[in-house]
Amino acid sequence: MTASRRTPVGVLISGRGSNLQSLLDASFADSYPASVALVISNVVDAHGLIRAKTAGIPAGVITHRGKTREDFDAEMDDALRAAGVEVVCLAGFMRILSDGFVRAWEGKLLNIHPSLLPAYKGTNVHARVIAAGEKQSGASVHFVMPELDAGPVIAQSTVPVLAKDTPETLAARVLEAEHRLYPTALRLVCEGKVRLEKGQAVFA
Ligand code: GRF
Repeated sequence: MTASRRTPVGVLISGRGSNLQSLLDASFADSYPASVALVISNVVDAHGLIRAKTAGIPAGVITHRGKTREDFDAEMDDALRAAGVEVVCLAGFMRILSDGFVRAWEGKLLNIHPSLLPAYKGTNVHARVIAAGEKQSGASVHFVMPELDAGPVIAQSTVPVLAKDTPETLAARVLEAEHRLYPTALRLVCEGKVRLEKGQAVFA
C-alpha cells in the first residue's frame, strides 16, 4: 500500500453509520489514500446503508440470522474479496467475528471503540466511565485481534469528562472525536505508516 494509490476499503456496520459517514467524507478528497469499495450491514434497516447509497457506494445486507458464525463470516469474506477490498473497517458492527476471519484479515482489520483502550472494553462504556469518576475518556482505533476490543492501538483521541456529564452527553463528545480519529487512523494504515507486526503496532 502506498500513498499514490487509493486502498479499497470495506466497512462493516450494524446501525447508525456515523463513523462510516466520516470515512466516506474523508474519502471524497482526492488526496485521501483510501476509497470505500463496499459497505456490508448485517442489519436490514441500518441507517448506514442509506448513507452508503447516498454516497453512491455499493452496499448490501448479509444477515447473520440462521447461519453459523463461520458461514456468516465466510459470506462476508467472499463479498469483500469480490469487491477487491484490502482493508476492512468495523464501524459499529455488532457481531463478534470468528477467529478464522480475524486471522485472514490480520493487520488489515480495524475497529473503533469509544474508550481509551485498554480501559473500558465491552459495552455500556460511558456509564462505567462516569461511575468510576474518570476525568477523561476518549476513543481508540485498533487492529482487531480475536479477543473482543483488544489489539494494538493505532490512534487515540482524548476528551474531558465533565462533572455534569450523562452517558449521553459524554457519548456525543466522544463520537465527535471518533469522527476525526477514524479517518486519521485509516490514513496511517493505508500510507504504510503503521503496521501490525508480531502482535504489535509498529510505526514507520
Ligand atoms: C461508535 O461509538 C463506535 O465507537 C462503536 O459503535 C458506535 C457506532 O456508531 N463501536 P456509528 O454507527 O458509527 O454511528
